[in-house]
Amino acid sequence: MSRIKGFHNMSIAQRRARLCLETGVSSALIEHMNSVDDELTLTADRLVENVIGTYQLPLGIATNLIVDNEPVLVPMVTEESSVVAAVCNGAKQCVESGGVKTAHEGLGMIGQIQVLELSDPQATAGDLQERLDEIKSICNACDPKLVELGGGLKAIHTRVIGTEKNQQLVVHLIVNTLDAMGANAVNTMSETLAPYIEKWSGGRVGLKILSNLADERITSATACWHADIIGGEGVVDAIVQAGEFSRLDPYRATTHNKGVMNGVTAVVQATGNDTRAVEAGAHAYAARSGQYSPLTLWEKDDAGHLRGKIELPMAVGIVGGATRAHPSAQMCLQIMNIDNAKRLASIITAVGLVQNFSALKALATEGIQRGHMALHAKNIAIAAGATGELIDSIATKMIELGTIREDIAIELLKGK
Ligand code: MEV
Repeated sequence: MSRIKGFHNMSIAQRRARLCLETGVSSALIEHMNSVDDELTLTADRLVENVIGTYQLPLGIATNLIVDNEPVLVPMVTEESSVVAAVCNGAKQCVESGGVKTAHEGLGMIGQIQVLELSDPQATAGDLQERLDEIKSICNACDPKLVELGGGLKAIHTRVIGTEKNQQLVVHLIVNTLDAMGANAVNTMSETLAPYIEKWSGGRVGLKILSNLADERITSATACWHADIIGGEGVVDAIVQAGEFSRLDPYRATTHNKGVMNGVTAVVQATGNDTRAVEAGAHAYAARSGQYSPLTLWEKDDAGHLRGKIELPMAVGIVGGATRAHPSAQMCLQIMNIDNAKRLASIITAVGLVQNFSALKALATEGIQRGHMALHAKNIAIAAGATGELIDSIATKMIELGTIREDIAIELLKGK
């Protein structure tokens, strides 16, 4: 039965007990989570509904990264072996050429208002542009503090979409949300403005919601890897060819970008930001030409060195939501010494580029399985029941045997 009456109103302890009763899960299994009155568990109970505990993932620190001339230690939350190590290695190999440099473009977040049933959508679009000052004062009144700090509504863009018979006007509110991801500010402004648009246009407003295709909030990053440091011009050429493969083939581009997002999502997650928002934006941006394409570009420069560039929407903040409420997110921001959202966006984007470098270098040379399997062996040992020092010794034995499988790990454990 999936209906549990009053589950929402129960305490965490009551929910755990009821869940055991309903599903047959043993209370011992549930007890591996933090205690019910642990600070993190209580915070979690305020963040989402029907909480029974918190879900732990590994939090690792990527070393060696330099972003805009400042060294930074980067916290990454990921369940995947090799992701943190790949950033450490890739970042180390571009230290000599100065690390990663970043830039930001665009005015801010986009809020969309869908306007239907207009007799002349183009005329309404023109009229709205003429009312820009009025629209600014309506929207900016929603968040005076944001405006005081230099943010707020900066522009409106209009688009007429649909067929000739069913034309719709889409109004984009472009809002500088400063250090916030901005979903709340933008959604409030969109909902507040909607009735005015109906009144002025005689149309009917449908949806009013932020767009995750945050292409008015783009971060780019570039870096150079010296040929002699990464194994010679042959390696440079192989990485450029690997990049070309992803440009020509959406099947490859998807995996290529998955690798980029291994790094991006891990840092977004560590800082309590919205991983789905950044992922949706990145993939939509990758498809903006009509063909799904790589988020990075790899080239050989005149001196024979490798140059990489990445560009993607980066809607992240350092205030509001879980970023503030989650103590681990706060800790991660402090580890990186972050005091503004642009710096966070720069670091995340740099990690995406470096992550992609390491993946392509491994793929274009020895393949990823050798390095991957060493770490994977530990996961398999854990899955087989190894704990403490046995994790390493069982993993090492499987690597020596050349076979990394759970059944082998179980056999090796029995022999202990
Ligand atoms: C695995 O998580 C990521 C890679 O497949 C990325 C890539 O192929 O570029 C290694």
